[in-house]
Amino acid sequence: MSGTNVDQLPGDSALFSGLSKKELKAVSRLFTPLTVAQGTVLTREGEVGREAMLITSGTASVEREGNKVATLGPGEFFGELALLTGAPRMAMVTADTEMVVAALSRQEFASLLDTSPKLAQKILVDAVRRLREGAA
Ligand code: CMP
Repeated sequence: MSGTNVDQLPGDSALFSGLSKKELKAVSRLFTPLTVAQGTVLTREGEVGREAMLITSGTASVEREGNKVATLGPGEFFGELALLTGAPRMAMVTADTEMVVAALSRQEFASLLDTSPKLAQKILVDAVRRLREGAA
């Protein structure tokens, strides 16, 4: 079954602050929760991207060309760049621990951006930051 409940989304995620109850409910329906084992490669640099993920629990490492560039944790999003740009994955993301992630298909991600302009703005600001870091 797909769809999470509002209380399954990371409540402390700055991404969702300022959303109305109605928006939160609509947003939470879009996500599919997945448990992944430590060491799982969640995105591979250079591959086509088909989903974006929000971390519910656990942490993941972000590597570009073999160099670690970031650690991501609960409430953080990844995999959005390939969906936004249509370009190949910019980095490899690997689970450092067992993780629970909330996944979105390309279409669900597009619906997420449509649900709330506030949320879309936050996701886009983070995406631009990551692209700038990648270009540096
Ligand atoms: P995407 O390119 O689809 O797949 C790899 C993901 O790693 C990318 O989307 C971002 O979500 C994430 N990512 C890339 N670069 C960084 C960075 N510098 N900091 C944090 N996350 C990043």
